[in-house]
Amino acid sequence: MGSGIGQVFAMRGYDVTLFDIKEEALRRAIENIKWSLNKLKEKDSTIDVDEVMKRISVSTSLVDSADSYLVIEAVFEDINVKADVLMKVSKLNDSIIASNTSSLPISELSKYVREPERFLGMHFFNPPVLMKLVEVIRGDHTSDRWFNQAIELVRSINKFPLPVRKDVFGFVVNRVLFKLFISACSMLSNFTPEEIDYVAMNELGMPLGLIMLLDYTGLDVNYDISKEALKRGFDFNCPVLAEMVKQGKLGRKSGKGFYDWSKGKPEVRA
Ligand code: 3HC
Repeated sequence: MGSGIGQVFAMRGYDVTLFDIKEEALRRAIENIKWSLNKLKEKDSTIDVDEVMKRISVSTSLVDSADSYLVIEAVFEDINVKADVLMKVSKLNDSIIASNTSSLPISELSKYVREPERFLGMHFFNPPVLMKLVEVIRGDHTSDRWFNQAIELVRSINKFPLPVRKDVFGFVVNRVLFKLFISACSMLSNFTPEEIDYVAMNELGMPLGLIMLLDYTGLDVNYDISKEALKRGFDFNCPVLAEMVKQGKLGRKSGKGFYDWSKGKPEVRA
């Protein structure tokens, strides 16, 4: 998601640096952004792909983040990985630090940053460039000043901020979505993914069916969220995810999940 978030900021005139420990991931991120910008240009000729690309640089060293105004962490939904990155970033930065965590309470993550008053959640949705909503989450220690500043930043990139003042696991959106995912998942013993998704798309009006959305956002991402949820006593269990992730079926990103994505977005027929 990091590349999509970076793209959104660059499209609104901000200079952006994408960080990853792997050069290959950065190469793919740049490719994805170029693909997306060219796709958007087909519908809006005012988009200047080269101009946006000029605002984006890449780095494998967090030292290059030291002068940033805002740093958004978007690593795996694993508290240890997030803790490590947040500690490193916060030693180097006096910036606003935001986590794009899908579910982990901000007050819990704030233990790892030097100035918790400047730390908050900015939760984007996939694909960030097309999805309008961004949850802005206030932790116990986030100050009014930086919370309001983050809301303004979200407005400045032409998104709708959803201020979340109750810092609970899953915030608002994923608490709702996961209830739906889990009920769709429990139906898999009786129905095919296509049957469940046909109903979700044609009866509930969802652009992607519930099972397809699990594939779309990544089975590994959803598995990590469900593990964290279970640890906290929520019944967010979808046992088939563990097996699929073990087999390398991660959904759209690996080409295979509940659906075959190797030829693009799968069709759902009754
Ligand atoms: N950049 C630019 N263009 C893009 C794009 C991107 N990243 N992704 C898709 N498009 C384009 C497609 O290429 C296609 O272009 P075309 O009309 O020229 O062929 C167009 O958008 C429509 O795409 P598709 O035909 O593939 O599919 P849809 O009509 O279904 O639209 C969608 C795609 C906008 C993603 C739509 O399916 C949608 O809104 N889905 C819901 C997504 C959602 O709910 N996201 C939230 C997930 S939860 C989450 O992220 C939380 C996390 O914590 C887990």
